[in-house]
Amino acid sequence: MAKNSKNLEKKLAEINAPVKAGIAALLEGKKEPTEVYGLLSEFFSRKGKSLRPALCIECCKAVGGRPEEALQAAVAIELFHNFTLIHDDIEDGSLMRRGTPCLHVKYGLPLALNAGDGLFMMVWQAAQKIEGPKRERVISLLLSSFTKVLEGQAAELGWYYKNKWDVTEPEYYRVIEGKTGALIAASCEAGAILGNADEETCKQMSGFGMDLGLGFQIIDDVLNIVGDESKYGKEIGGDIQEGKRTLITIWALRTLPAVKKAKLELILKKKKKSAMEIRAAITLIKESGAPEEVMKVAESLVDRAIGRLDVLPDGEEKKTLCALANYVTRRQK
Ligand code: IPE
Ligand code: IPE
Ligand code: MG
Ligand code: MG
Repeated sequence: MAKNSKNLEKKLAEINAPVKAGIAALLEGKKEPTEVYGLLSEFFSRKGKSLRPALCIECCKAVGGRPEEALQAAVAIELFHNFTLIHDDIEDGSLMRRGTPCLHVKYGLPLALNAGDGLFMMVWQAAQKIEGPKRERVISLLLSSFTKVLEGQAAELGWYYKNKWDVTEPEYYRVIEGKTGALIAASCEAGAILGNADEETCKQMSGFGMDLGLGFQIIDDVLNIVGDESKYGKEIGGDIQEGKRTLITIWALRTLPAVKKAKLELILKKKKKSAMEIRAAITLIKESGAPEEVMKVAESLVDRAIGRLDVLPDGEEKKTLCALANYVTRRQK
């Protein structure tokens, strides 16, 4: 199992080498002001999984395209993803990102916010380099998926603002479809479009990315409760401190017996929680069996995603996409 993940991480690094080089070249060209680009260079020196650009490139190859055709879209997508992380950490009041304090923790809110804005501009610097007959279509797809991400974020942040705790499963899915699913779906669809796939294949690749994205987010929520902090790179129980409503909390609150449910609810709803309260909440959530149950849901979404690959011709690329999907369920970070 661990060996499979290591191999896949090696494969991800190979696929993403030109993406990394593209991002490094953009940053090389811009050194000043260091208050923007210095922060961004530091952020990109942290190790992320680079799942989205790899999906974009592999979907392009899987439909018969050349990897270069998807490269600029993959770069723009990875830049946008990193931008969302910087702003998301501010919005969530998070502490750690990729094993290091978040930019706003390390450099303060104003510089982190502004560095995020700088990165958002770099997204369009990369996007405008997309070439070929599908250029306009892919740029429109990026624009609409990026918009869905911020709309998903807005819906989730609205729950905090309105102090809404009676979040239902459909409401949760709508949020993660936006904040996470939309970008992974667009990564896959953009790759397929740039590789000149037919309409049905583009649709299936979008669906593949959406199902994978939903599973991805649910597993991220599981890792936040049961993960290993040194591998996960974010604070364990951070979602509880942040008051996040996840499929896990929905599940635990629905299934725990009344007294334990009341205890968990009391902790979750507190604005500020002590380390002891967070540990207690984690224990209650584990007792409810929610992490295992929710993991099964994520696995079935990933299986559904893999089923959509049937539309692709058999070959190495299809195998790689399947392996990337399985890595989502096996990962520890
Ligand atoms: C984190 O995404 C944000 C979520 C959608 C959960 P990743 O887990 O892909 O972040 P990195 O790029 O690997 O750090
Ligand atoms: C991530 O949402 C979605 C975006 C960054 C757009 P979360 O807030 O759930 O992810 P983490 O746990 O901070 O990575
Ligand atoms: Mg967050
Ligand atoms: Mg968030």
